[in-house]
Amino acid sequence: MTLKRVLSGVQPTGDIHIGNWLGAIRNWVELQQTHETFVCVVDLHAITTPHDPKSLYKSSLSTAALYIACGMDPNKCSIFIQSQIPAHTELCWILNCLTPLNWMERMIQFKEKAIKQGENVSIGLLDYPVLMAADILLYDADLVPVGEDQKQHLELARDIASQRVNSKFGTKNNPILRVPKPLILKECAKVMSLTDGTKKMSKSDPNENSRISLLDHPDVISKKIKRAKTDSEIGLEYGNFSRPEADNLLSIYSIISGLGKEKAALNCREMGWGTFKPEFTDAMINILTPIQKQYNELMNDKGELNRVLEKGKNTAQEVSHVTLNRVKEALGFYTSS
Ligand code: TYM
Repeated sequence: MTLKRVLSGVQPTGDIHIGNWLGAIRNWVELQQTHETFVCVVDLHAITTPHDPKSLYKSSLSTAALYIACGMDPNKCSIFIQSQIPAHTELCWILNCLTPLNWMERMIQFKEKAIKQGENVSIGLLDYPVLMAADILLYDADLVPVGEDQKQHLELARDIASQRVNSKFGTKNNPILRVPKPLILKECAKVMSLTDGTKKMSKSDPNENSRISLLDHPDVISKKIKRAKTDSEIGLEYGNFSRPEADNLLSIYSIISGLGKEKAALNCREMGWGTFKPEFTDAMINILTPIQKQYNELMNDKGELNRVLEKGKNTAQEVSHVTLNRVKEALGFYTSS
């Protein structure tokens, strides 16, 4: 029996935070046990906004190391750097020519990022979801584990595959591309900012206190949690719209403490913020310490990291090559036999 395929990725921009981990990477770690899993560091996405070459290089390696430190096992999955596989940009070009411009102009993330960037918006920023579609479709992914904010991009990838490729160039019994499904966790699919429970935790928030990065020192974690926004009520609870911070911190706590949703709610039902925050801090430091330790070991042994990335590259190359050729043949490109 062939295993179902999974593909996902994180941009190597800024520090990976607990939103990326709880909303996406945590899910990959489970899926690699039962699925053929590909995870890439999407460095080509990282240049859609102005970037610094030195930090891109460092962040690409560091992101791959964090995948492993969070539990991705190079013997069970393929870890690779997107720009090492030229098929991503080649398929992106082909899909660009098949995708209507007005589909792209509807993308919420584009609109939000474009507003932030003012005059300096690149074509790459608009085109980014097509590149993401190429990332996914190249690996015939069945499932794409992502956070809530990527849902619209996944819908676009599905529409491109079914409406613009399969229905135009394939047949019902012989589709060219597999139509992927998003896999979004129930808990922590949208981790909110520590300083404003109505805003998503984001790498690009200028306020560093709004997020906890996976590599934050325990003292920094402690400080950020102390400063995190609270309210004047006693007891934490889920789903009270007038208390977004309580919902957010309790949801995070239910996972990092290992208690699960119900038990966490029961434990914290009558807890004041002054008792909750130190418990939350301990749980966060306890869960991040082993991740940081393994991360540091990997970054001190680049040989091992490079070997993992080379192996991932080779597998990714083989798989993506087959899909790209299938698409090119269906579209009538000359292929030498
Ligand atoms: P990126 O790098 O912004 O985020 C990586 C993953 O983290 C999730 N995420 C969150 N989840 C919960 N709460 C949050 N506050 C939060 N912030 C981010 C994202 O949903 C994502 O799953 N376009 C993608 C990267 C990408 C990709 C792909 C993903 C490129 N090609 C192919 C999957 C498949 C992005 O910018 O993610």
